[in-house]
Amino acid sequence: MSLFEIKERIESLVKELNEHNYKYYVLAQPVISDFEFDKKLEELTALEKEYPEYLDPESPTRKVGGDITKEFQTVKHKWPMLSLGNTYNEQDLKDFDERVRKAIGSNFEYVCELKFDGLSISLSYENGKLIRAVTRGNGTQGDDVTNNAKTIQSIPKSIKGSGFPESFDIRGEVFMHRAAFDRLNNERIENNEVPYANPRNFASGTLKMQDSSEVAKRPLDCFLYFLYADKLIYNTHWESLEAVKKLGFHVCEHSKLCSNIEDVLEFIHYWDEKRFGLSYDIDGIVIKVNNYTQQQELGFTAKSPRWAISYKYKAQEVETILEKVTYQVGRTGAVTPVANLKPVLLAGTTVKRATLHNANEIKRLDLHEGDTVLVEKGGEIIPKIIAVNTSKRSQYALKINYPDICPECGSNLQRKEGEAVHYCPNDEGCPPQIVGKMQHFISRKAMNIEGLGHETIEAFYRRGFIEHISDLYLLHEKEDQLKEIERFGERSIRNMLEGIEKSKQMPFEKVLFGLGIRYVGETVAKKIAAYFKDIDSLMNASYDELISVDEIGERIAESIIEYFKEPRHKEQIEALRIHGLQFESVQNTIELASNKLEGKSFIISGVFEKYSRDELKELIEANGGKILSSISAKLNYLVAGDNMGPSKLEKAVKLQIPIISDQELVEMLQ
Ligand code: IVH
Repeated sequence: MSLFEIKERIESLVKELNEHNYKYYVLAQPVISDFEFDKKLEELTALEKEYPEYLDPESPTRKVGGDITKEFQTVKHKWPMLSLGNTYNEQDLKDFDERVRKAIGSNFEYVCELKFDGLSISLSYENGKLIRAVTRGNGTQGDDVTNNAKTIQSIPKSIKGSGFPESFDIRGEVFMHRAAFDRLNNERIENNEVPYANPRNFASGTLKMQDSSEVAKRPLDCFLYFLYADKLIYNTHWESLEAVKKLGFHVCEHSKLCSNIEDVLEFIHYWDEKRFGLSYDIDGIVIKVNNYTQQQELGFTAKSPRWAISYKYKAQEVETILEKVTYQVGRTGAVTPVANLKPVLLAGTTVKRATLHNANEIKRLDLHEGDTVLVEKGGEIIPKIIAVNTSKRSQYALKINYPDICPECGSNLQRKEGEAVHYCPNDEGCPPQIVGKMQHFISRKAMNIEGLGHETIEAFYRRGFIEHISDLYLLHEKEDQLKEIERFGERSIRNMLEGIEKSKQMPFEKVLFGLGIRYVGETVAKKIAAYFKDIDSLMNASYDELISVDEIGERIAESIIEYFKEPRHKEQIEALRIHGLQFESVQNTIELASNKLEGKSFIISGVFEKYSRDELKELIEANGGKILSSISAKLNYLVAGDNMGPSKLEKAVKLQIPIISDQELVEMLQ
């Protein structure tokens, strides 16, 4: 490579790796495996070492990945949150052992721990009370997620026992057990929400949610693995783990004290095999020098401690045969290629299919029929084809080409400028789109129609009973025909028809979400329903009016306008309206439980033991009170729970606004 090319390569690696860091740490949506990332990082580190003149201060080798999200308060860590050096092979570990030995002699021990695949958190305790929980962020400062962390059962809100420092930080990893992940992710799929790729992303997405009551519904867990205090109170890491376990912190039981690197390697080999039997994901092993004085002697590099290292397990790979590529058409018309594989055992499960994402991926791999492919299962649930073994390809094998036409209805596929996904535009006549739209309409988060499932919708469609969502409301006229369907008894039919009838009472926001307008998810539907109050105002809204609504951006506004331009969409809405569905918000006509709070305004802030914030809000509104969005002199009461933001409190005190507890609020109603 010429010097110019080297400079360019360094620049491009810095840019690319910083982007991956952003996707991993901020969006929680990584697009490459840790292994691929580390390979690129290694290349960059080597180039920078050889050509320090091209070192960029923004280089990911100089900083811990991650950034701070905007919505949370930013808090500086008292002790920086460092990362660990990664190794992938035994030689690197032996080299690490050698470096340690050179610095502190041979009289030392290691603690081996599992490397949990979650997101790190720093918890601060004062006088035994949890006062703050902060994400790693960029290593120096992170997001204050205290309210959310308080919903995690295994994080003690106050500590029992004695002998702990007055003030300390304890660090660990927040994660989600695989079983909880599977259950909740399946619910997301059923509700047509975008599923998370793996438990780590789910945990990370959850911890960064704005609404703590929503966080509380998703079970997270937390293993703690490091105590920081002003004064050293234990001599070794092992001792400190034992001590914090006794204080009630969740400490993983699989850590091991090892007297040499051979024991460490044995531990690594053991867990390489057994890791799939754990109830949570790990992506490697962390090795730490046990003695604190020795840790201090070894010190730190700019980014990580010299007394610890991580050994990352390689994503499991296996070769198998590509049997064929099929194409799935989703509710929105997106056409996704899927690789159907000869079943093969990988990372504890039988793999039959792998995702191919889009046409670019097929091109990238240069896939041919019957190819021998290398399949990898990393942190993601759906395995991925990482390479093709071309030496095993028959010379007669035909190249696989992404189709020009929809495999389901034959329409010409379209791809928007700059997008990777092809869409089938025939939303009116393409069977999986028609069925998908009806399945979305009946789903739990939309109309929640009891007694009607996805398969039934498909069966009804195949028999020609339904084609549009409004046809569901005519099914009662076809009762006799329904009875002819195998395994569809009288009772099931009655339940279903009752469910359909009941759905006519579902509020406007649910109907709106159920219509399946592209980009109008549950939250957006709620905002729209609250703002426009009825479907006619929404249909007549201009682009400018739409984007003035909270949470509605250009993309959503355009999609809404497009949707209502179609006469057949308007016809559907008319038909549903005639059947008696709700196309108006009923917020103003809530029956009040009392008017005891009439004329009074409230703000609710913090976490409450007995109620969620939404429950308190409902209680206030049901008794005639109003909820305000910001503190001003007009506010009558601030209902304060635990861990309220300091700026809110300060403002309320300054304006002399009465601060009351949830208990006092309840008493006002008695
Ligand atoms: S110790 C200064 N122990 O791995 C050392 N980290 O690459 C601090 N992690 O940010 C980390 N399991 O998020 C440590 N048993 C364990 C861990 C662990 C997972 C994560 C943690 C850290 C990252 C470092």
